[in-house]
Amino acid sequence: MTEKKARKEGFAHLLSPIEIKGVEIRNRIALAPMNTLMSLDNRGYVNEQILAYYAARAKGGCGLIITECVLGTRLASRFPYTSNLHLYDLSHFPGLAELAETIHAFGSVAFIQMSIGFGRQGHSHTGERPPAPSVVPMMVSPEYLPRGFGKVLEKYPQAAERALGAMPYEMTVDEIRREQDEFANSCRFAMGAQFDGIELHAPHGYLEHQFLSPLTNKRTDLYGGSLQNRMRFLVETYLKVREAVGFDYILGVRLSADEHLPGGFTHEEALEVGRTLAGLGADYIHLSDGSYEALKYFFPDEDGTMLEEAANFKKATNLPVICPSIHDPYLAEEAIAKGKCDIVSLGRQMFADPEWGNKVAEGRVEEIRRCKRCNECLMRTVVGLPVRCIQNPNTGREKYMPEYWRPPVKSKPVTKMRVPPRLPELRSFD
Ligand SMILES: Cc1cc2nc3c(=O)[nH]c(=O)nc-3n(C[C@H](O)[C@H](O)[C@H](O)COP(=O)(O)O)c2cc1C
Ligand code: SF4
Repeated sequence: MTEKKARKEGFAHLLSPIEIKGVEIRNRIALAPMNTLMSLDNRGYVNEQILAYYAARAKGGCGLIITECVLGTRLASRFPYTSNLHLYDLSHFPGLAELAETIHAFGSVAFIQMSIGFGRQGHSHTGERPPAPSVVPMMVSPEYLPRGFGKVLEKYPQAAERALGAMPYEMTVDEIRREQDEFANSCRFAMGAQFDGIELHAPHGYLEHQFLSPLTNKRTDLYGGSLQNRMRFLVETYLKVREAVGFDYILGVRLSADEHLPGGFTHEEALEVGRTLAGLGADYIHLSDGSYEALKYFFPDEDGTMLEEAANFKKATNLPVICPSIHDPYLAEEAIAKGKCDIVSLGRQMFADPEWGNKVAEGRVEEIRRCKRCNECLMRTVVGLPVRCIQNPNTGREKYMPEYWRPPVKSKPVTKMRVPPRLPELRSFD
């Protein structure tokens, strides 16, 4: 798409609505899920800053907000990389319900990203061994880091300690099933909190990805070996969550399109996983790439690196596909116009400028504050600090900005509550 054409057509494709399972999203612009570490208490609760951070991106023109990844079991929440939101009991529920309501108040659709765990990429504050498919610790090699990562590492040298993961232990089959049951129960809470959909978090070398990969899954039982076996953990988790939330509710999956490591799972295998999930009624695929050990694919240095993979997923699954890391609105318009993906998700660019969507819609593209892909924001989270952005001094300070407080509303009766087929269990999953 030439700039001239996009301008003439007013970004017609990027700004057109899309419907997923009866839920209309006002445009094709999504906030990518990003762990902000703005919860601040390390206990996983939503606070005023988190509400205002998401309000800014909804008000700024994202039709779809996908939350940062929320850890959905007690075991998972004991082994984060640094710190995340949690949802595994009733105490987390009101804060997340407030978050969904806030996003809705600013006119956006709200999906919650739910994670069953970091697996071997997790750490415990007490030095315990994290759960994983097999006993293979994580090791990040410098050749797989994004360009210029060295510079930001110099500023945060303690991050280098995170290159080597803790020694994991192999999960038993009983433990796998217990985790899946607790996770599915937590997804019922997420639906009850009035999120419009759930995104299962399965990319980036996290637990589901670890089961998918022959590099990290050395099991000889029904969860290891063939692709069919390696995808069993993800498929079972998907099915348990689907049973928990019902078929009328949006349930999508985020996947890495390729592991990009010698001997790792391939793009062809990822497509097969996508086809299987589509056959089981998944509602969309949100693509990503790589893992902590292939970080340059996960955090690309340039726009559009996943577009061809996204197009392949569209062909293979016939589902709506969300493609990340296209910061240039002209390229985003072209990607959607050519049918390579259906929605673009913006990550770091939304730290740099939450008004990206409005500026595109109002013909103020030159005013967009561009993300420099310097990875300062990311590195801060690696060392346990909340996100800040070198381009936007207000990222992380939205709670002090009244324009991101919930506006007063005329009382409107709730028309359709999202109620899970069964209420969440309040029992402990010991
Ligand atoms: C600080 C930070 C935290 C992130 N946390 C998550 C997360 O919780 N879940 C997820 O699926 N991706 C996460 N990502 C990846 C983004 O969703 C996105 O795929 C990636 O940043 C590439 O897109 P971008 O170039 O627009 O930033 C995170 C990225 C950043 C920078
Ligand atoms: S700190 Fe800001 S400019 Fe740098 S990568 Fe993060 S979002 Fe982009």
